[in-house]
Amino acid sequence: MNRILFSLATTIALATPAMADQALANSKNCMACHTVDKKVLGPAFKDVARKYAGQKDASAQLVIKVMKGGSGVWGTTRMPANTQVNEAEARKLVDWILSLK
Ligand code: HEC
Repeated sequence: MNRILFSLATTIALATPAMADQALANSKNCMACHTVDKKVLGPAFKDVARKYAGQKDASAQLVIKVMKGGSGVWGTTRMPANTQVNEAEARKLVDWILSLK
């Protein structure tokens, strides 16, 4: 019984950060144009993670892109500036996106 509770607690502890970031993405309206694994208006976040895998400077650039918006990387559709996120939130979201597999 203790063992089950322990593994349950571990699962929750491990699952929570990712879920919190998904919730942040929901509350910041990112999921209006993105999903984790399907292209909608914007690219699937898993595709973003795949594209930038192993690129050390990607995260800093993506933080700026999220805040200022832009186009031309995934197509001609433009991502508007996301003025509802501050830099710390943008960094948290980008870290979450890049951690997706
Ligand atoms: C109105 C629709 C829209 C919203 C809202 C939106 N995006 Fe985007 N996003 C796009 C589009 C379109 C692109 C593709 C831009 C391009 O091709 O350069 C994109 C691209 C991206 C990329 C990849 C950028 C690159 O240069 O590879 C990331 C990361 C991203 N969005 C994160 C976010 C986050 C985080 C939020 C919420 C704060 C968000 N987006 C909100 C439409 C949106």
